[in-house]
Amino acid sequence: MAKDTLTITDNRTGKSYELPIEHDTINAMELRQIKVKETDFGLMSYDPAFKNTAATKSSITYIDGGKGILRYRGYPIEQLAEQSTFLEVAYLLIFGELPTKDEYAAWEYDITHHTFLHENIKTLVQAFRYDAHPMGMFISTVAALSTFYPEARNVDDADVRMYQIKRLIAKVPTIAAFSYRHNRGLPYVYPDNELSYTGNFLSMLFKMSEPKYQVEPALERALDVLFILHADHEQNCSTTTMRAIGSSKADPYSALAGAAAALYGPLHGGANEAVLRMLREIGDVKNIPEYIKRIKAGEFRLMGFGHRVYKNYDPRARIIKKVADDVFQITGRNPLLDIALELEKIALEDEYFVSRKLYPNVDFYSGIIYQAMGLPVEMYPVLFAIGRTVGWLAQWQELVTDPEQRIARPRQVYVGAGERQYVPIDQR
Ligand code: CMC
Repeated sequence: MAKDTLTITDNRTGKSYELPIEHDTINAMELRQIKVKETDFGLMSYDPAFKNTAATKSSITYIDGGKGILRYRGYPIEQLAEQSTFLEVAYLLIFGELPTKDEYAAWEYDITHHTFLHENIKTLVQAFRYDAHPMGMFISTVAALSTFYPEARNVDDADVRMYQIKRLIAKVPTIAAFSYRHNRGLPYVYPDNELSYTGNFLSMLFKMSEPKYQVEPALERALDVLFILHADHEQNCSTTTMRAIGSSKADPYSALAGAAAALYGPLHGGANEAVLRMLREIGDVKNIPEYIKRIKAGEFRLMGFGHRVYKNYDPRARIIKKVADDVFQITGRNPLLDIALELEKIALEDEYFVSRKLYPNVDFYSGIIYQAMGLPVEMYPVLFAIGRTVGWLAQWQELVTDPEQRIARPRQVYVGAGERQYVPIDQR
């Protein structure tokens, strides 16, 4: 009978080792027994950028990148985007199951009643320059929250953890909206507890002198779906950062600020902003062939294309295309959509992109929707961060309660100078 093991023969010594295989992986620590001399450190695996290393067991999100499958806690993303709400998905990701009616009502009440920020946070946001990037303000403000809730450092206390989880999910839209209003030189709008999670966010962004902000239901729903699609994506760069910081038992505000900083980069959550800038730069469908030529020559990348895990159409991109249609019914068609559609068509037929399995990812169309909603490009990564906050927290909670986890501390292969003697500066 076939055994779930792997036999490795070390040709340096002729010795064989039988390593157990579990979940199609071997435990990297098993390699350490492979030595030439007893005093050796033992074999390690070398994996820059963790391309083939599982750093955790997780029961939150499942992705099959080859088939283009994404599921949260077993539920297909398509069903959740169609039938669920962002707050219900948040509950699912945090608790592992869909809520009952009563559980959902209590959850919604709790999140709604933690949306206010301490007044001093306003002073903090006001201290930024008028043109500060909202993502910089978002990251700093989330980090600052840890000083308002010092008990949050008791990360091994389940009740304390849940309190911070609710606070963070509730407060990130308020922080995001304050950063937007700051950029515009507009007064900050306080949360309206009578509105939904996304309705309240739209109110905090766009309310002017009217006594009550009238939420456009189609835009409220579109934003809710976009938050669902961005809620989690297993061990991506920012989630890995959340887990790495969390592994030192730092409080979740500090860890989440670090995760948001990782998201900020143009190869990750900053890509939606980069896509919009790219579409504007292309400017006209007739300029696309020349643009593609330059991408193929390696001058720059086609933003919103390609993914470390998906080697097929990103299922989120498919859903977003439908959301875009709903939004454009209200806002009118975004002319950049024509450039995006043509770019996608050409890229999907071009040998360069086909052979590298480069398909549109979640960020290819999200920016076009945000733009149609009247949001400036700098806000796009912040919108990503609001949705992803839920995933970061679910993953952080899983990490903190996982008995197999320790402080994250990768190894290195040292390739620098051997020992040398210090030479005083006047003798160099
Ligand atoms: N445009 C042109 N060529 C590309 C692109 C692209 N967008 N992405 C990958 N390639 C090429 C790359 O040059 C390389 O070619 P070669 O083998 O000839 O050197 C090959 O495809 C493999 O690329 P890689 O850099 O090894 O792939 P990766 O898995 O390390 O990178 C990625 C994944 C997402 C960083 C990359 O595809 C990329 O930079 N895309 C553009 C940025 C983007 O849209 N990011 C959003 C990701 S989805 C949202 C999120 O989760 O944050």
